[in-house]
Amino acid sequence: MRALKHLNAYFIRYKWMLLLGILFITISNYFGVRAPELIRYTFIDIEKWISQGAEPGVDRNYIISQALTAALVYAGIYMLYALLKGLFLFFTRQTIIVMSRHIEFDLKNEIYAQYQKLSLSFYRRNNTGDLMNRISEDVSRVRMYIGPAVMYITNLAVLFVLVIYQMLAINPELTFYVLLPLPVMAFLVYTVSKRINKKSEEVQAQQSILTTHAQEAFSGIRVIKTFAREDSIHNDFIKESKLYRSKVLSLVRTDALFAPVITLLIGLSTILTVYIGCLKAFDGEVKVGVIAEFVIYVNMLTWPFATVGWVSSLIQRAAASQERINEFLHIEPEIVNHNHNEMTIEGHLQFRNVSFTYPDSGIKALRAIDLEVKPGQTLAIIGKTGSGKSTLASLICRLYEATDGEVLLDKQDIRSANLDILRSSIGYVPQDVFLFSDTIANNIAFGLKQGSASQDKIVQSAKDACIHDNITGFKDGYETLVGERGITLSGGQKQRVSIARAIIREPRILIFDDCLSAVDTETEDQILKNLRRIMAGRTSVIISHRVSTVRHADKIIVLQQGSIIEQGSHQELIDKKGYYFDLHRKQLLESQKIG
Ligand SMILES: Nc1ncnc2c1ncn2[C@@H]1O[C@H](COP(=O)(O)OP(=O)(O)O)[C@@H](O)[C@H]1O
Ligand SMILES: [Mg+2]
Repeated sequence: MRALKHLNAYFIRYKWMLLLGILFITISNYFGVRAPELIRYTFIDIEKWISQGAEPGVDRNYIISQALTAALVYAGIYMLYALLKGLFLFFTRQTIIVMSRHIEFDLKNEIYAQYQKLSLSFYRRNNTGDLMNRISEDVSRVRMYIGPAVMYITNLAVLFVLVIYQMLAINPELTFYVLLPLPVMAFLVYTVSKRINKKSEEVQAQQSILTTHAQEAFSGIRVIKTFAREDSIHNDFIKESKLYRSKVLSLVRTDALFAPVITLLIGLSTILTVYIGCLKAFDGEVKVGVIAEFVIYVNMLTWPFATVGWVSSLIQRAAASQERINEFLHIEPEIVNHNHNEMTIEGHLQFRNVSFTYPDSGIKALRAIDLEVKPGQTLAIIGKTGSGKSTLASLICRLYEATDGEVLLDKQDIRSANLDILRSSIGYVPQDVFLFSDTIANNIAFGLKQGSASQDKIVQSAKDACIHDNITGFKDGYETLVGERGITLSGGQKQRVSIARAIIREPRILIFDDCLSAVDTETEDQILKNLRRIMAGRTSVIISHRVSTVRHADKIIVLQQGSIIEQGSHQELIDKKGYYFDLHRKQLLESQKIG
């Protein structure tokens, strides 16, 4: 329950809505409790008319019409009360439920903002499904507490006080007997609700298994079809579906028990009221009308009471959800911007004895790296998969921080630079290309601030990335949709769109992480030629496993298992006749074979 404390700040923010809501609930219940009183008065009045009508020599028709008029007047007032009750109930919902929607909105945005602050290692530790659940499902469950649960509890409390007060004022003894079944009911309701909750949790869990199963089957449809495994996959689905059905049916059975139990207990209470009420009426202790009034009160109380079990489960669930949410909200972002001043970045990069170990896997990806790139120079990194090339690039973007040693930008510790300016001065083409489900033009324009990319610029960077001809070949040109509902680009095309996105920024520092791996050598040559023009005057880092990509760089470093094993210019490395030389020879031979 402590987890829910986090929400108190929100209740304070919306205190006026909340207080108004509570006021409206009170007014609504006030009219609700007043109405049955009218029934008593009607009875008393009609009794009076009947006894007058029994006297000899009276005009019976006159009496009847009088009685009817009285009844109609009471009925009218009763209707008015019911209307007022309903009206204020409407206002209650308009305040408390609306408040809960506002808080839901705020909470979602609080979580979203926190997500964006958290570092990449957080995203590696938690899967996407988990992140999504906390911002959607968990928040919805919390909202059920903020809205409905708060409303029902307030309603029950107000109603209880008003009804009990009213009943005690009329006849304490009768009140005692009438309320006798209530504890029994509370206990039964609680037990049945608990079972229902347990079963609905099971249903939910099974449903999520089913969804995951279906999701995976659809995204892996290509593999399933080519391996001709449709039947076995379908059988798995049937198995899970059957389990789901049996769980739902079991839930429905328990659910079906609920209403009859309540109705039975209401019936019991009503019988008690009528029986004891009649005994007291015979004794002249209460008026007959009181019996009718009490029957209505008992009915009024029971339904809110019956929801206690449900409401308490709402709160429990909300608490569990909020605890999950808090777990994320209370994580301190590892990488924080400490500098909010304006600054210009020259692009001088230096690594001083930098080592890096991935926090979650414990893999030592970089060992004692020393290197320097002067502004405008090109650094190339070559090495096998897993040698630490991408890790080095992430450190430049400050996506991770060095475990040991220091990364310097313009001769200052990179941690002291303004992070926003640092990242916006970098044009980064990641190894695993990601394109948004949007038009190609927008994917390229993503490199610039929203709305600041002109069509000319987009086209120019597409031309430089050698993707322009492909794009104009599509029916919709630059407006072609890519991703989920659009066309599927080839790996090389995606890489080139991603390059265009980076160079449109005209950044101080360019980082190309193995971004030509899926491009044929001829196009690669063309792109490299264009890039050399673009890279002039900018610090660039080119990562590749192909010698042809890196040969023109000012400096080449060869990484192996996180350490630099060779460095120098292309010619120097060739002369060394070491690893680089071998690699060069091997790749030359291969290309000649293909040629
Ligand atoms: N996010 C990560 N979390 C944990 N380990 C990682 C992560 N990324 C890479 N590694 C590991 O770090 C080492 C270097 O990886 P990486 O820098 O991607 O190499 P390269 O880019 O040269 O292929 C590899 O052993 C890899 O398994
Ligand atoms: Mg890599």
